[in-house]
Amino acid sequence: MKKKKVVWIILAVLAAAAVAVYFLWGRTYLRRHFRRVTVDRQAAVTGETVDLGQRRAIAVYFTRVGNSDFDSNVDAVSSASLMEEDGQLIGNAELIADMIAQATGCDQYAIRVADLYASSYGDTVKQAGAEMRSDDYRALDGDAPDLSAYDTVFLVHPLWWGTLPEPVVTFLRSVDLTGKTVYNVVTHGGSGLGQAVTATRTYTQATVSDNALAIFDDDAATALPQVTEWLKGLN
Ligand SMILES: Cc1cc2nc3c(=O)[nH]c(=O)nc-3n(C[C@H](O)[C@H](O)[C@H](O)COP(=O)(O)O)c2cc1C
Repeated sequence: MKKKKVVWIILAVLAAAAVAVYFLWGRTYLRRHFRRVTVDRQAAVTGETVDLGQRRAIAVYFTRVGNSDFDSNVDAVSSASLMEEDGQLIGNAELIADMIAQATGCDQYAIRVADLYASSYGDTVKQAGAEMRSDDYRALDGDAPDLSAYDTVFLVHPLWWGTLPEPVVTFLRSVDLTGKTVYNVVTHGGSGLGQAVTATRTYTQATVSDNALAIFDDDAATALPQVTEWLKGLN
């Protein structure tokens, strides 16, 4: 075979491989990490109601939005997995907490850090990793909430480095949840629940249920049926 022909065959094989990689993996990755998703928040969280019986519940959530130093014109490239409505950013965990609150009528509480994380996704990942490896605890904004009126806590949070984000750890250390039941509701980029449930047990005296819910981050905006079915199974 002539040398030129061999070169063309190699180039064709490489091109076919590149196309295959793009459609099998790259397109999904690019969509997730380099594009912002626009949601109709009201439509995303409104659906069937779920009766939790005698439970007095609260959805406590932590999310990047509200805890990051986003520029007003934060670009999608530096901010993976963000949703927005009318230019207003919405975190995955926030939207899921809202779904739980709309379905059950429970209250909500947002965990806020004192010092915001970086605007960029990559820098936040680095910051979070560094603080997890250190002995420092992430300080929270304001006093710990009074949760004495509740017996059920939906702890809605992203998975960070395979486990609880540090601010959630600080939250658990700052409140007494003795006698209450905690349900982890975890949004993630592919690792599922990770060590979240085990880690929650480390930091609270509450009963931490094995019946935790994992939601893939790409699915957050359309997760209402999944959330509703899970809630129905709690009674
Ligand atoms: C600091 C950091 C660490 C993360 N670590 C993981 C991880 O270990 N496994 C995983 O599946 N996703 C990981 N993710 C992805 C988030 O869990 C996921 O995108 C989540 O839905 C974001 O929720 P939020 O919008 O409420 O912040 C990480 C994201 C960040 C910012």
